[in-house]
This record gives sequence, structure tokens and C-alpha cells, in this order.
Amino acid sequence: MTNVGIIGMGSYLPEKVMTNHDFEKILDTSDEWITEMTGIKERRFAEDNIDTSDMAVIAAKRAMENSGVTKDDIDMIIVATSTPDHHFPTVANIVQSKLELNHVPSFDQAAACTGFIYGLATAYNYIKAGTYKKVLVIGADKLSKKIDFDDQSTAILFGDGASAAIVGEVSEGYGIKSFELGSNGDGGKWLYDDKDTKYIKMNGREVFKFAVRIMGELSVSVTEKADMTSEDIDMLIPHQANIRIMESARKRMNLPREKMSETIQLYGNTSAASIPISIEHEVKHNKIKDGDNIVLVGFGGGLTWGAVCMTWGK
Ligand code: COA
Repeated sequence: MTNVGIIGMGSYLPEKVMTNHDFEKILDTSDEWITEMTGIKERRFAEDNIDTSDMAVIAAKRAMENSGVTKDDIDMIIVATSTPDHHFPTVANIVQSKLELNHVPSFDQAAACTGFIYGLATAYNYIKAGTYKKVLVIGADKLSKKIDFDDQSTAILFGDGASAAIVGEVSEGYGIKSFELGSNGDGGKWLYDDKDTKYIKMNGREVFKFAVRIMGELSVSVTEKADMTSEDIDMLIPHQANIRIMESARKRMNLPREKMSETIQLYGNTSAASIPISIEHEVKHNKIKDGDNIVLVGFGGGLTWGAVCMTWGK
């Protein structure tokens, strides 16, 4: 039986830090309000000359270096993004060219903030089927180009970043044990990019209610599907949208706070990049170790949702 998991990762976060205090200068807001309502303290904004593909390329390069994977090893490239440089060529096409990878299939997959989970599940199935051996899955978003800086409740939420994973065959006992994906287009009206202005429009209250329900339900169901209980889970990695939403999922799973990944304070909501950035962060800080069971869970515009339960290691 083929076991499929993540064999290496790499991330890129822009250098420019935008703090809550910086927002106080341009919006009617305060550090206290943002911290209490979202958990965010600061986020990164890419410079004008850095687009989504630039961040994706650096993250992918780092993931390949960290996992010792060469150009010839990559059989497919998937970029989860809802802020591509262009609709075509896709960000994945640009990554293929800039990293001089072989002429393998490359495409963008749009599922908003759930994108990385969708990408991981897609790669899993291609590898399970025996079609490909190693798939480069990248979550990359430059949400700052979609922010309406006059909209005080959405402007403060988002940040830019990218993170990449090399998905491939792992040893017995490791890798993805279960996943779940879903969508409901009826909720598209609550979170979308406006056709005319190109800005993100959001009904924060509705998105919040939906997210609290789905994040808890999914965390539990993906764990059960892997024949585990919350006691088996060493780390919950929720999409970093809002600390209160993340907390509701953690409580539903009965996990102590140290078993939940929190990078939201530093990076805000980086959309499709948020979950892989968090995994990489925890691995780097030795909070996720070989053999740990982890649950990734996310939601986003669409509305979309998804979760993965996996055993870390290769
Ligand atoms: N600073 C200070 N006050 C703010 C503010 C800000 N940045 N944004 C909104 N407010 C104020 C409003 O003016 C309003 O004041 P009023 O009651 O005096 O009119 C009040 O807060 C409530 O506004 P509302 O927009 O209804 O806020 P909310 O309680 O829904 O909280 C969010 C806003 C964004 C924090 C919350 O809705 C949320 O997190 N939703 C989920 C969003 C999400 O996760 N999106 C990403 C999906 S991938």
C-alpha cells in the first residue's frame, strides 16, 4: 500500500511588517480592537514589485532544498491561490519556468483559503493512483492587492505569504490518513472579490458563524475518519483566520492551547498559505515531531472547506 505524506517544506514571508499600530494611522481602528477581535498583531505585506509567483518560487525552492529533492524528481506542480499574477500563465506555470523544472503538468487550484488542503488532497490521489511520485504543492497569496483600505473590518485581517510542500511516498505508518473536502456556492455572497473594484467583500458575521460551525465539525469528523480520537492528536493546525474561530475548533476537539498552532499573531490571514506556513513554523520550532498526528483544517470563500488528518514524518 502506498502511503502519501509531506516529505519537505519551505516558506517565504515578505520582510515588510504592517503592525496594528500602522493601521491606527490610516483607519478608524485600534491595536486593542484588532487583537481582541482577531488575535492579529501584525502581518507581512509584499512590496509592489513582488507578486504571488515571486513568493511561490522562493517557497518552492526552499522546500526542494530542505527535502533534498531535485528538479527531475518533481512530476506535477499545483499552486493553491486566489490572487494569481494572471489567470494565465498560471502561477504554477511561472514556477515551472523560473525553477527550470521539467515540462510536467502545472496548474493553479482556486479554493480560496482552503486551497492548500484541496491541493494536498489532489496530490494525494495522483500519487495513490500511481500516476506520479512527487508533487510540489504550494499555497501562495498576495491578499494585500485585494484589500480595500477604507474597509476597516476586512483590511486588518489579511497578509501576504507563500509556503510549499513536497508531497510524495512515505514509509508505513506515516502520511495522510484521511481527508474531507466540501463546498457550498450559496455562501459565495458572503466572501468574494468584487468584479468592479477587485476588492475583497465580506459579511464578517456570516462568515464567522459558518467558520465556527464547520471548523469544529470537520476537525472531529476527519479525526474519526482516520480511526483516531482527539486524544491521539498532537497538534491542530487551523486556517489562521481569527483566533476566536480557531479557539472554537480547539475547544470542540478538547485540546489544550499548546496543541494548537498559532501564527496568526505574526502573519494574519495569508489565505491559501496560512496552513502550510503554520505547519512549517511548528516543524521548525520542534513542536511537530516525527510520528505526531496532526489535523489541518480550513475554510474559505466559495464557500469551501477541507481537513486532513496525517501522521508527520517520512
Ligand atoms: N476597528 C475598530 N472597530 C471596528 C473595526 C476595526 N478594524 N471593524 C469593525 N469595527 C466596528 C464596526 O464599526 C462596528 O461598530 P458599531 O457596532 O459601533 O457599528 C462593530 O465593530 C461591529 O462591526 P462588524 O463589521 O459587524 O464586526 P464583527 O463583530 O463582525 O467583527 C470581524 C469583524 C472581521 C473581526 C469578524 O466578523 C470576523 O472575524 N469574521 C470572520 C472573517 C474571516 O475569518 N474571514 C476570512 C475568511 S477566510
